[in-house]
Amino acid sequence: MFDARRVAGLAAAEGERFAADHPGSASHAVRLAAHWLNGVPMHWMRDWGTPFPLVVRAAQGAILTDVDGHHFTDFCLGDTGAMFGHSPPAVAGAIAAQAGRGLAVMLPDERAAAVGAGLAALFGLPFWQMTQTATDANRAVLRWARALTGRPRTLVFKGCYHGTVDDVMLRPGGVGAPFDARTSAIEVEFDDLAAVEAALRGGDVAALLCEPVMTNAGMVLPQPGLHEALRALTRRHETLLVVDETHTLSSGVGGHTRTHALEPDFLVCGKAIAGGFPCAVYGFSAQVEAGMQRVLASRAQMHGHTGMGTTLTANPLALAALAAALDTLHAQATYDPMLGAAAALDAALRALIDRRRLDWHVARVGARLEIGHGEAPRNGTQAAARMQTALDQVLHLYLMNRGFLLTPFHNMMLCSPVTTTGDVARLVAAIDACLGELA
Ligand SMILES: Cc1ncc(COP(=O)(O)O)c(C=O)c1O
Repeated sequence: MFDARRVAGLAAAEGERFAADHPGSASHAVRLAAHWLNGVPMHWMRDWGTPFPLVVRAAQGAILTDVDGHHFTDFCLGDTGAMFGHSPPAVAGAIAAQAGRGLAVMLPDERAAAVGAGLAALFGLPFWQMTQTATDANRAVLRWARALTGRPRTLVFKGCYHGTVDDVMLRPGGVGAPFDARTSAIEVEFDDLAAVEAALRGGDVAALLCEPVMTNAGMVLPQPGLHEALRALTRRHETLLVVDETHTLSSGVGGHTRTHALEPDFLVCGKAIAGGFPCAVYGFSAQVEAGMQRVLASRAQMHGHTGMGTTLTANPLALAALAAALDTLHAQATYDPMLGAAAALDAALRALIDRRRLDWHVARVGARLEIGHGEAPRNGTQAAARMQTALDQVLHLYLMNRGFLLTPFHNMMLCSPVTTTGDVARLVAAIDACLGELA
């Protein structure tokens, strides 16, 4: 739809503008390159499409400030970790208060009972465990599922991402995989219930692991009735249903599970669950817990030998952050402004798409939105076919040069409780200006 030469020309001009505008980041980049792989402490940080990394000084609320003193209105929000805004005051205060009272004890602290009760009330599942990351929560859940069912495989949807979990890393590009994930996982399309049923009929699937809305292949909304059908099929074939809410926590209080009355056997949530502090949780039903007790009782080894858990998990800082987040963030009053800003962004983007007669769509799950190319996809394969990476990258760089951050891996925009409708209007005006340059 847009001329490739124009896209490439604008990308080159925006790259030069970024380099000229960020001398502080540029000089950091030289020093960073001396000791960090690819010049960054975690190599994904190079996926932003900038000539060198943007180096951050601080992030607060919906604003991120770089070392050159530029302020960015942040719609990436740490790719969801900071969905409730950067350093929410109650969480930051709880971490600061705990910081001098012990950082690693490998024992529950006096808040743990209330945190367990809070998670049960929030998501409607009675039993819980903590991990440091959603990746680790998914790894543990899949181990439990295999132990409980005696079955080896996991069913996932094509184009999914559930963290760097070897069992289900079916996407191309993985490095050093310990085994071929096609031996441990089966993948089917998100809109193909017949294929789900065929996979389950084989009798070797321990768990169906899914996001309620696919958010890592662009955003793919479920077809009507999908979740009811998945629940019925997994029950019929005695396969455990795992709902990964790590990104769909944006749906509303208690994530998609609460807002859409889902009935998973396991629920996983990480990233924003503790207001951005590294922490994740997995919850499970009473029936699953009874099965876990039987598994544990049948073995002679100590709990530390299960292959699940890590030394720093459920540390006092994580418990402090999670307790504060449960008390203050997972509440309707927090979500109301997020959902309001997201609704305004949704409407403004649709109006822009109409006015410019673009063959684009907007998908939204609560406070989380995505612009996609072509018609709204029904599955991961359609979503992948509609990606326009060069166009997306120039849009991101153009927006960054005008003070807006979008998630680098796709066109995702998140609205925090402190994102204003003014922020939204300015973002849409900047997107419009970019499209004007390309038209
Ligand atoms: C749906 C989903 N689950 C799990 C994860 C893993 O999260 P983390 O990288 O924090 O382990 C991600 C990461 O993007 C995700 O999108």
